[in-house]
Amino acid sequence: MSAFPATRLRRLRRTDALRSLVRETRLDLDDFVQPLFVGPTSVANEELPAMGRHSIEDVVAEAGELVSLGVNAVLLFGIPEEEEKDDEGSGAWADDGIVQRALRALRAEHPELVLVTDVCLCEYTAHGHCGVLRDGEVQNDETLELLARTAVSHVEAGADAVAPSDMMDGRVGAIREALPETPLISYAAKYASAFYGPFREVAESTPQEGDRRGYQMDPANVREALRECELDLVEGADVLMVKPALPYLDVIRAVRERFDSPVAAYNVSGEYALVKAAAAKGYLDERQAALESLTAIKRAGADIVFSYWTKDLARWL
Ligand code: PBG
Repeated sequence: MSAFPATRLRRLRRTDALRSLVRETRLDLDDFVQPLFVGPTSVANEELPAMGRHSIEDVVAEAGELVSLGVNAVLLFGIPEEEEKDDEGSGAWADDGIVQRALRALRAEHPELVLVTDVCLCEYTAHGHCGVLRDGEVQNDETLELLARTAVSHVEAGADAVAPSDMMDGRVGAIREALPETPLISYAAKYASAFYGPFREVAESTPQEGDRRGYQMDPANVREALRECELDLVEGADVLMVKPALPYLDVIRAVRERFDSPVAAYNVSGEYALVKAAAAKGYLDERQAALESLTAIKRAGADIVFSYWTKDLARWL
């Protein structure tokens, strides 16, 4: 192998066209999923525009805009009225629940749009934990049936795919048993992360007491993430997700190398908010920082990216 002066890597960096010719990673809108929040009324979010809350009418219009921009898929989160919350989170599987109503409206208007739902109880429980709470402990096995019930109600209302984000052991198997035909995107390696902060503000799902470290993963662990993924595949997951994305690119890479199933990454609310806040201060350019972030997530090995920038990306590409 020859070295400098014969070899000069700058030769292929000289023009846009040359750089494009040798580019290893490209962003394709088809790989992106836009998260959407549905609630009783629309509430705009000035600082984090992609995290506004949509009424059902408004979410149908927003989906229409996304479809016309070429977006393939959305991930739905429901935010019920405060007084609808209870200890079990029964709003999660209510036939006339917020997500179920949104699904019926979206299914009717946008048959081609892939509708993925987040399956979890934390937005619906009064205590804000992702499962049944007893003596300060989230009860794993009792929660499984409630999650399966929630997933079934989503599919009955029109969901194309379900994405359990609760991190109970055995939830993929429980949902798979109830829904043999439904694509299941498992939040397989979901870490107990500070980067969910803005989401919890919007979704009003901060635990009243304690935190989620008893069920979400310790940020220090990567071998454990591979065990989570392996178990989820055995239980019937179709897609493995790593979450958050940017602080966990090594985990995305490790999952990519170990498994052949599609790998998803969730570019979470805190990752979006960091860039938004820095851009608002003039510290960096949002578009460049976002494109660089999304490219890094793809480069690490993600096939599918859940990102609040999906709609912006549609305009940027
Ligand atoms: C629900 C859920 C959370 C996120 C997705 N599903 C919050 C949490 O686990 O506390 C976070 C998404 C984001 O931060 O963008 N369990």
